[in-house]
This record gives sequence, structure tokens and C-alpha cells, in this order.
Amino acid sequence: MDIFAKATARMGPLGQYASQVHGYFTFPKLEGEISNRMHFRGKEKLVWSLNNYLGLANHPEVRKADAEAAKDYGLALPMGARMMSGQTKLHEQLENELADFVKKEAAYLLNFGYQGMVSVIDALIDRQDVVVYDSESHACIIDGLRMHMGKRFVFPHNDIDNLRTELRRAKKLTEKTGGGILVITEGVFGMSGSLGKLDEITALKKEFNFRLLVDDAHGVGTMGPTGAGTGEHFGVQDEIDVFFGTFAKSFASIGAFVAAPREIITYLMYNMRSQIYAKSLPMPLVVGALKRLELMRNHPEFREKLWTVATALQKGLKSRGFNIGNTQSPVTPVVLSGDTPEGANLAHDLRENFNLFCSVVAYPVVPKGTIILRLIPTAVHTLEDVEYTLDAFSKVKDKLDKGEYATGKIVDVV
Ligand SMILES: Cc1ncc(COP(=O)(O)O)c(C=O)c1O
Repeated sequence: MDIFAKATARMGPLGQYASQVHGYFTFPKLEGEISNRMHFRGKEKLVWSLNNYLGLANHPEVRKADAEAAKDYGLALPMGARMMSGQTKLHEQLENELADFVKKEAAYLLNFGYQGMVSVIDALIDRQDVVVYDSESHACIIDGLRMHMGKRFVFPHNDIDNLRTELRRAKKLTEKTGGGILVITEGVFGMSGSLGKLDEITALKKEFNFRLLVDDAHGVGTMGPTGAGTGEHFGVQDEIDVFFGTFAKSFASIGAFVAAPREIITYLMYNMRSQIYAKSLPMPLVVGALKRLELMRNHPEFREKLWTVATALQKGLKSRGFNIGNTQSPVTPVVLSGDTPEGANLAHDLRENFNLFCSVVAYPVVPKGTIILRLIPTAVHTLEDVEYTLDAFSKVKDKLDKGEYATGKIVDVV
């Protein structure tokens, strides 16, 4: 069998819809400066799809720092992996400042969050160890665990009783293998907006001997009094043993970092394959991240504005009878009942007739019969944007309830 024949015969769970939605719901081209308003297919849209939480993407100081760093250093510098020839003072400075920001002893940069997380997990555990992880963990956690040769036990999302049961199993097993236990969860779950119950999870440390790794990709900059993340929000940041953050959300850039006690960071520097065998993060990304961090620290009003918009949006949706699940973060899912064509038709109506651009999640990403429209409020949205959006949502909900989107066919978008 030709590998290529297999690939084209079945395109995969998402790829199977490519011919119907490519360029519209998948791979859409959003154009113009990153903001609350951008262009899609030549028309201005109110955009609720970007994790530009603090509005830093297009902040003039950020744009200036990015441009100047590109001019001063270019993208090549430094050449080689950190360990061999890619170390700079600015990489170290950024790491020190990040560690300080998330209240950890030390930090290390990762070129991408995704590969970085895979490698953190790979480096931390071996076959004697047992991992206990939340069932809604991000793909990068799942892929890190795919490489694990030992046991892994999953607990249903945020089900602490079940976590306790799995920890008991893990404890028994590690008593035999001589290994340790690593618990993995997230700070903010990016799809639902729910928070990992870090207060309850860390409380279990008294009973069970485990280390805790938290992916706080969506929590850095958005959660906690100083933006240090979801652990700070719960007052348990110290209890997180290994903290993971990315530059792909609040930082509006690319790259990521891991933060932990100094000796663990030193161990990771010498054992994370994604960093040992890959080129160092280019200078403009490092300088750009330093500028973003400075703004994040000096301008708490960005986070306050994000929360003002998020709270208005979430309160408004709830008061209009929408189901927004269990979000406790700015991530705002709107859960509707309907099949995939209905969801697509509704989102098409929102996009074309109300000029609202938001992400649509349907089966197979969520269970059949459910459609989730995911809204990401940011500090660059206004309360007028919120009012406009609430009215539009009420109108499309009315149409959905009347069955107006149920044609059985996705409207022609390609
Ligand atoms: C929860 C979570 N973890 C990890 C990542 C991966 O980070 P990166 O985009 O830096 O690869 C993402 C997405 O960006 C995410 O949402």
C-alpha cells in the first residue's frame, strides 16, 4: 500500500471536511494589524478569535522593540543550540526575569511550547515513574506522555475524588517499581476556560508524595494579582513544582519557557532533547519578549481591562440565557445544541451578516450534537464590542431555536 494513497483516502477526523470549509472555517486568512477589528475576505470583522489577551500584539512599544531587534541582530543570531554556541546574555536575562515573574527560582526558554512540553515530560520521567493527568490535557501533554514507557493514569477533568483514587494506584505501583509520581494538569483549560483545581490538587501533596507540572499557557499574564498565573490566583504558586508558560498567548509572540527550582532547570537544560538538538531562540524573539514582560509588569491596567471586557461578555451571555459552561477565565465558550452543518451555518451567518469572527468547534472535536463558539476577549476590545456581540448572539440563537440553520448541508463557503 502506498503511504500517499492512504493519506488521500482518509483525510483524518478534521481533514475530511477540508473540501467544504478550507479557507473559511479552517485556515481562514485574517488580514491587517492584529486588533479587535481585522479583515477577512476584504471585509472588516469584529474578531474574537485571538489569544492576544493583553493586547500586546500591536502595542507601539512592542512593534518598535521587535523591529529594532530585527534590525540590530537579524534572525540568525545566535547560531546553534544553546548548549553548543547559542547562548547569550539576553537569553539569560529573559530567563531570570521570567522566573521572577512567575515566582520560581529559575527558568529556561523553549523554542516552541508544544515541543518544549513534550521534552519536559520526556526528560522528567522514566519507565519506573507513574504519571497521573487530567483527561482534558492539551495535545502537547498527551504527546509527551506517548513517549512514556511506564504507566500513566488519567483522571476525568478536575475530578479530585478520581484523582485521589488514581494517586492511590500510582502510589502502590511506584512502591513496587521504585519510581516517583508526576501529576500533570493545566492552569486554564484553553477550550472550556475552566481552571485546573490547583488548590485541591496541591492539598493532596500532604497525603501523596508527588511532583506537580502545570501547563499555564493561558494563565500567564491573565491570572493572579500580578499575572503570574493560575497558581497565584489560587495562592498556591509555590506548590507548583514545574511551571510551563508560552509566548503564544498573552505575550503575543512565539517561544515558551519552563520554570522550576534551579537544580531542576539545570537538569532540564542538559536533558531536554527539544532544546539540546535545536537552534536557540532568535534574538528578536528574546528582545521582544523582554519588552512584553516589562509592559506586563508595569501596566496592570491591561489585565484589568481584559477582565472588564471578559466579565461584561460572560455576564451578558449568561443573562441572555446562554450556556457558557464553567469558565473562570477570560476564555468564553458558548455551548449550543445542534449538528455540524447547523453550527457551520450559524457561524457563517455571524461572520457574513453580523461581521463577527469567532472560532467554531463542532464534532469530532466536541461530542455530536454540540457546537461551541469560542470567544476570546482581550484588552483591545471595547464594551461597545461586547454589546454588539451580545445582540448578534441573541439573534442567531433565536434563529437556531427556530431551526433556521438546519438545512442538513453546510452553506457553500469555499
Ligand atoms: C494549553 C497549551 N499548552 C501548550 C500550547 C503550545 O504552545 P506553543 O503555541 O508555544 O507551541 C498551547 C497552544 O499554544 C496551549 O494552549
